Amino acid sequence: MECVIVGFAVLSVCQAAALPNFVLLFADDLGYGDLGFSAHPTALTPNLDRLAADGLRFTDFYSTSPVCSPSRASLLTGRYQTRSGIYPGVLYPDSIGGLPLNETTIAEVLKPLGYATGMIGKWHLGYGANGTYLPTRQGFDHYLGIPYSHDMGPCHNLTCFPPDVKCYGYCDVGTVTVPLMNGETITQQPVDFVHLEDAYSNFATDFIRSAAQKRQPFFLYYPSHHTHYPQYAGWKSVGRSLRGPFGDALLEFDSTVGNILQTLEETGTLDNTLVFFTADNGPELMRMSRGGNSGLLKCGKGTTYEGGMREPAIAYWPGVIKPGVTHSLSSTLDILPTIARLAGAPLPKVQLDGVDMTDILFNHGAGQREAMFYYPTDPSEKYGVFAVRMGKYKAHYYTRGSPQSGTTPDQDCQLISFLKYHDPPLLFDLESDPSENYKLNVKARPELASVLQNIKDLKDRFEASMQFGESEIGKGTDPKLAPCCNPECSPKPKCCQCLTTH
Ligand SMILES: *[C@@H]1O[C@H](CO)[C@@H](O)[C@H](O)[C@H]1NC(C)=O
Ligand SMILES: *[C@@H]1O[C@H](CO)[C@@H](O)[C@H](O)[C@H]1NC(C)=O
Ligand SMILES: *[C@@H]1O[C@H](CO)[C@@H](O)[C@H](O)[C@H]1NC(C)=O
Repeated sequence: MECVIVGFAVLSVCQAAALPNFVLLFADDLGYGDLGFSAHPTALTPNLDRLAADGLRFTDFYSTSPVCSPSRASLLTGRYQTRSGIYPGVLYPDSIGGLPLNETTIAEVLKPLGYATGMIGKWHLGYGANGTYLPTRQGFDHYLGIPYSHDMGPCHNLTCFPPDVKCYGYCDVGTVTVPLMNGETITQQPVDFVHLEDAYSNFATDFIRSAAQKRQPFFLYYPSHHTHYPQYAGWKSVGRSLRGPFGDALLEFDSTVGNILQTLEETGTLDNTLVFFTADNGPELMRMSRGGNSGLLKCGKGTTYEGGMREPAIAYWPGVIKPGVTHSLSSTLDILPTIARLAGAPLPKVQLDGVDMTDILFNHGAGQREAMFYYPTDPSEKYGVFAVRMGKYKAHYYTRGSPQSGTTPDQDCQLISFLKYHDPPLLFDLESDPSENYKLNVKARPELASVLQNIKDLKDRFEASMQFGESEIGKGTDPKLAPCCNPECSPKPKCCQCLTTH
């Protein structure tokens, strides 16, 4: 293997004489202010807090989209979602498109090196005709999960908390109830929320044990349904946090993180495993006290304010990554190039948007990322990016509220804040004003003109390099494609029900 010659890491990585393992934990609709270590007063997240205390915590880490599917596409490919066509909005159970199979995922980067690849949880990058776009077609040998959001199917009469507390609120009707898939087979429809997390945890720990036994390097990707709406949790977590349903769901996710860490320890693989944690986009503030919290950041899901895309993130690798805090600008885009580097795998021969983070991880260095570009939920060539961050500065060219952030008192977050063009752009200093409260007075401070010019140059260069892939979501939907455990039954979608066992 290639020894990664970077300071603190060199010893451990080379001595291990084995390819490193990767565990990628990805929470859903989780905000900057939601975790114990980010000072939420009633969040109960002892395992994530331990990762934060003993790992490297990022303060300036971004996803590429304020909604699910595009954010996941860029995480797994190291490319902005516009390139792979995962826009506008998100994929549905009966979507015709999905993440194109010629996109290279992290799993596909690692598989040729002999990695075991496993995934549990929320895919949300397409299902398609007969499961064309499932994770099993994108490099994951093992998969247990719901292939999209768990509110994408009627949930009205389903149990979300034991003993029999029905799911709160309304989910999508007129489509099939959400399936649980093992590989490409539907094993439950509707899924049993109360026992789901235990099934995930067992699948994850079995996967690690099995790979460790065979001395096979492994990549485990766990994009959790927690803490997306509607909240649910099983027996071990219900009623345990002071934070209500959201807190219990978060605690349940945290417990699985704990089980995974314990299994790494028990199998002797912890020292040779990079665990990375972050989330897909900001909190869905419209769920009010049942939703997440962006802490001191402005707005949440659906917006290009900080609360929509800036996420908690942690890199944890005991003995290799020194505990601490980094303010370096980083993104989900950078995970693929970093993993490839650590495994010594060749990068996919495509235009990547991610950069290698190893200098940040091992030397607490400044990193290579120059800028972060904020695409709205519906990127277009006409409008381009809504905002750009360069260094400590962020310039908003367009702003817009979102229904998903609609219940905050700040009017800018609300749906009634229609698309607004800013010329000159709204400029903020995110180091002294992370909440985007005080726009800089560009006229009164002539030195800022060059900042704006540099940002504009970066933006122009980026947009000139951006080739929009054909929109996969724009291909539309076909009700016949929705997953059904009983394909020949009628009338659909109602008849797509299978006895659930656990
Ligand atoms: C995948 O195939 C499509 C259609 O041929 C093409 O437009 C796109 O550029 C390809 N993407 C990659 C990453 O090769
Ligand atoms: C799925 O596969 C079955 C069996 O091969 C085939 O009959 C059916 O037409 C396929 N469905 C779609 C939507 O392609
Ligand atoms: C929920 O159950 C009630 C009572 O069995 C039934 O009348 C209603 O149609 C169900 N609602 C949905 C959305 O399935």
